[in-house]
Amino acid sequence: MTSTMNILIVDDDLVSRSKLEAILEDLGHCDLEPSGDKGLAAALEAAASGRPYDLVCLDVEMPNMNGYEVCRRLKADPETRTIPVVFITSQKDETNEAAGFELGAVDYIAKPFSPRVVQARIRTHLELKRHQEYLEDVIADRTRELRSAHFEILNRLAQAAEFRDNETGRHVKRLSHYCRIVGRGLELPEEHLDALFHASALHDVGKIGIPDHILLKPGRLTDAEFQIMQTHTRIGAQLLDSHDSKLLQMARVIALTHHEKWDGSGYPRGLAGTRIPLEGRITAICDVFDALTSKRVYKKAWTVDEAVEQLKKDAGRHFDPELVEAFLDHLDPCLQIVETYGDE
Ligand SMILES: [Fe+2]
Ligand SMILES: [Fe+2]
Repeated sequence: MTSTMNILIVDDDLVSRSKLEAILEDLGHCDLEPSGDKGLAAALEAAASGRPYDLVCLDVEMPNMNGYEVCRRLKADPETRTIPVVFITSQKDETNEAAGFELGAVDYIAKPFSPRVVQARIRTHLELKRHQEYLEDVIADRTRELRSAHFEILNRLAQAAEFRDNETGRHVKRLSHYCRIVGRGLELPEEHLDALFHASALHDVGKIGIPDHILLKPGRLTDAEFQIMQTHTRIGAQLLDSHDSKLLQMARVIALTHHEKWDGSGYPRGLAGTRIPLEGRITAICDVFDALTSKRVYKKAWTVDEAVEQLKKDAGRHFDPELVEAFLDHLDPCLQIVETYGDE
């Protein structure tokens, strides 16, 4: 074992306490407490300070609070729930032993005990605990890696779609940030904001399916061409369809609804008002604001004031008026994003 294990021994009998300490001190550092309530307090305090005990030995019969109650409370607290509890007691009948296991103890050792056997059993529990922690760390690492690979792949997919559209890829970056800023302003939960950040980047992923002569056409699109152009919403939704991941589901919703308009005149379904999902409504504002304030082959960049005027004019027509307000309330941090991720 590498780092020292911390063991808590709770027993009202001084002789038993000292005897256990002598047996267990080879396995780790031992703290001793003489009653159930003090033992519980010590265990909770250690957990709160970030160094929870690795194992707790509990006597059953003790003043103030018996060992069963201590165990019950340790198992009820998320901070101490995973600490292995071993009962060491003279209550050796089957009912008591069963009660101890039912409370979540990992072992039940009857007094008088053989020191070597107690030491071997406690060592096994400590090793199991350490092994479990190792596995949990490995899983946490792998989960982090997978999450970040997942985000990275989605990000690159978003950029691939964007590059085809003759843009720098920075539009998508800025838009993601704006969406998160607006979402934070609406006090959406942090987890939701992360998803919104990554999902909004995929709003135009369906452009992958639009032919070059339409997507890259410098002039005005004919009606027929515009109809094909509009299908990028449905194509995007199809690309992102049918996965359990909350992120992909949100990305699908955004791809499908970011061109819907508050007054029902948008596409592809002509949804109106709050029938348009919130994430789609947020993305619509951020997308238009960024398009207006960026230079494109066919137009120069509008000033921020001009773009703000346009958003205000379109509040209640193109955009959810409350969200326009939320966006304008957080215009400053959005402009900071422009500073950081402006087009060269
Ligand atoms: Fe779009
Ligand atoms: Fe866009």
